[in-house]
Amino acid sequence: MSSTVVTNIRTLVTNDPAQGDGGPLGVVEDAALVLDGERVAWTGRAADAPAADTAYDAAGRAVLPGFVDSHSHLLFGGDRTAEFNARMSGRPYTAGGIRTTVAATREASDDELGRNLARFLAEARRQGTTTMETKSGYGLTPEQESRALRVAAAHTDEVTYLGAHIVAPEYADDPAAYVGLVTGPMLDACAPYARWVDVFCEKGAFDGDQARAVLTAGTAKGLVPRVHANQLSQGPGVRLAVELGAASADHCTHLSDADVDALAQAESTVATLLPGCEFSTRAVYPDARRLLDAGVTVALSTDCNPGSSFTSSMPFCVAVAVREMGMTPDEAVWAATAGGARALRRTDVGRLAPGAYADLQLLDAPSHVHLAYRPGVPLTARVWHRGTPLAPLVP
Ligand code: NIG
Ligand code: FE
Repeated sequence: MSSTVVTNIRTLVTNDPAQGDGGPLGVVEDAALVLDGERVAWTGRAADAPAADTAYDAAGRAVLPGFVDSHSHLLFGGDRTAEFNARMSGRPYTAGGIRTTVAATREASDDELGRNLARFLAEARRQGTTTMETKSGYGLTPEQESRALRVAAAHTDEVTYLGAHIVAPEYADDPAAYVGLVTGPMLDACAPYARWVDVFCEKGAFDGDQARAVLTAGTAKGLVPRVHANQLSQGPGVRLAVELGAASADHCTHLSDADVDALAQAESTVATLLPGCEFSTRAVYPDARRLLDAGVTVALSTDCNPGSSFTSSMPFCVAVAVREMGMTPDEAVWAATAGGARALRRTDVGRLAPGAYADLQLLDAPSHVHLAYRPGVPLTARVWHRGTPLAPLVP
C-alpha cells in the first residue's frame, strides 16, 4: 500500500463540519489531502501536511468528494429517441414509454446489459461520480428482473429491486396478481442480488396499498425501502416512504404541506430530487428551497434512464438545481455528495475525512461553485476511486 499527498488544493470540500469554516461543506482553503491505499488518511492546511510516498500537485484547483448518484435505471436495452423527439414537439411525458424499454430489455442478452451498464458507469465516472446506485424495472418477470440484478451486482454494491416499476404487460388485466408475483416469486429470485426495494407509487403504476405491500414484503426479505414518490402528481408515496422508514423518497415534485412536514420530521428519509427528469420532460421542477427551508435533508441524483432523464451527469444536475430549484451552489454540491451518501445510508463515501474511502475529484477550477457557475463545461480533471486515479483528463 502506498500513500499520496495531494498538495496545493485551492478549495477542499470535505463535508466534515469539524473542518475548515464550520459550515456543512467543511471547506478548507489552501489545503492538502493524504490518501493511503483505498482510504483518506489526512486532510488539512497544506502547510501542515505530513510526508507521503508520492505527491500530486493540484495546482490551485478544487478537490471535492466524488459524487454519490443514488438513483439510476441503467439496466435496459434500446433507447427512446423517438419518444424524446415527440415530447420536444409537445407530447407530454406519461411514463407509458416504459413498456417500449421493457420489450427491448427482454430482447437484450446478459452481455449487452452488462456492456451497457459498464458504459454508463464509465461515463458517469468521467464526470466525477464514484458511487452509483442502479435498479431493475425493465424486465418485469422473475427471470428478467433477477438476471438484470445479477448483472448489476457485478458492477456496484448499490442495487435496487424495482419489479414494481409498472404492471407487466402480461398482467394488465390483473394488477393484483402482478403485485402477488412482485411480492412472492419475483422477490425470492431478486433479493439475493439487491440491497434495496423500490416501487413507482403513482397513478397508472402502483397505488398506496400496493406500494405498501411491495415495500413490506421487501423489508421482510431484508431489503431496505426507497420509493418513487410524487413524481407526476400528489399522492401517498412520500408519506408512505416516511412511515416505513425508507432511506429516500425520490422525485418529490408534487408535494402537499403534509408531505413536506412528514419529510421534515422524518428520522432518516431523505428527499432525492432529480432535475434531469424535469429538464428532459419539460416539467415543473421540484421546489428544493421549500424543502430546505423546512429542514428536509435533500439529495440530488441523475435518475439516468432512457425515458425521462437520459443524463449521467451530476455536474449538470447541480447546475440545474441551482438555476431552477432555488438551491445555493453549496447546498447543491452537498446534496450531490453527502446527500447522496445519506440517501444510500453510507458514511464511507460522500465526505473526505480520515477513514472514508479515497473517492474524490479534482476540478479544473479553483472552487466547487464553478460546477454551477460554468454549466455544461467539462470541469472534471481527475477522479480517484478507492485511491486509484483514473486516466487523467487534464494534466
Ligand atoms: O424515475 N418514474 C418512473 N421511472 C423512471 C422513468 C422510467 C422511464 O421512463 O423509462 C423515472 O423517471
Ligand atoms: Fe427513477
